Amino acid sequence: MKVLLATQKPFAAKAVEGIVSILTEAGHTVEKLENYTSQEALTAAVSDAEALIIRSDKVTGEVMSAAPKLKIVVRAGAGFDNVDLAAATARNIVVMNTPGQNSNAVAELALGLMIFMARTQFTPATGSELQGKRLGVQAYGNVGRLVGQKASALGMEISALDPFLTDEQIVAGGARPVHSLEELYANSDYLSIHIPALPSTIKSIGYDLITKMPKGATLVNTARKEVIDEDGLFRALEDRPDLKYVADVMPDIYDELTKHFGHRVFATPKKMGAQTAEANVNAGLAAARQIVDFFATGNRKFQVNK
Ligand code: 3PG
Repeated sequence: MKVLLATQKPFAAKAVEGIVSILTEAGHTVEKLENYTSQEALTAAVSDAEALIIRSDKVTGEVMSAAPKLKIVVRAGAGFDNVDLAAATARNIVVMNTPGQNSNAVAELALGLMIFMARTQFTPATGSELQGKRLGVQAYGNVGRLVGQKASALGMEISALDPFLTDEQIVAGGARPVHSLEELYANSDYLSIHIPALPSTIKSIGYDLITKMPKGATLVNTARKEVIDEDGLFRALEDRPDLKYVADVMPDIYDELTKHFGHRVFATPKKMGAQTAEANVNAGLAAARQIVDFFATGNRKFQVNK
C-alpha cells in the first residue's frame, strides 16, 4: 500500500526513519510531504495515497475527495479536530489517533509555561514559586493526569474536573475531584486546560469563568486556541489586572493581547507541546504500526470515527 506521511510541521529525523522502516518492512511504500505551505499541496499529494499519517494537518472533505484510494488516516497525536470525521465516514475512510503517545511532552511544556510565567517570563523581576499553589486540571485524561502528577512533585495541590471519570478514578490519579467548572476555576492559582476542541467546548472558556479565578491566577492553555472565547479573555484581563494567560496555541488576537497586557500574556509562535524527539518517535511509530496492523489484520482499536 502507498502511505503518505504529510506533515506541515515535520517529525524529528529519527521518527521519520522509524516510520519508514516499519512501513517498508511490512511491504508498504512511503512518500513524504513535509513543510508544505498550502492545502493545495496536500490535495495534490494524496491522489494515489491509500493511507495517510498526519499531525495537525487539515484533512478536509476536499482533501479526501482528491484521494480516491484512501482507506485510513492516522493522526499521530491525540486531538483529531483537524480531520473532517463525517466526510471520512461518508467515504468509508477509517480515522485513528495515537492517544497518550505525546502526552508527556505536552505535560512537561505545561509545567514549563507555568514556571516561565511564575518567574516573570525569565526577566529579573521578582517572581513566585509553584510550591504550595493550587493547580486545577480541566480534563484529567492522558495529559491532564501527567500535569497533575508532575505538579504534585513540585508541591502543588491538585484538583481535577473530568465528566468522564468517577471520583475514585480522579483520586487514584492523585487529584481531588471537583464537580463544577466554577468551583475549579475559583480555587485554582493555576488552571491547566486539557479539553479537546469540540462543538460543545469551542469558546467555552470566557469572561465569566476566567474572572472566577483567584487573585494573581494564571490560565494555562496547551490544548486548543478554539476553546477560548478570546473577546472574553481580553475583557477578563482588562478587568482583572492580576490575571495572566499563557498558551502553546497562539490566540488570533495575540498582538492585541500583548499590546494591552504585556508580560501578563505569552504564547508560543507555533504549537510545540508535542515537538520533542521522544514524542515524535512515540506518536510516529505508533501511527506506522497502526497502519501495518490495520492492513494486515483489520485492527481498528484506535478508530475515532465509529
Ligand atoms: C495533539 O493533539 O496530539 C497535540 O496537539 C500535538 O499536535 P502536533 O502533532 O500538531 O504537534
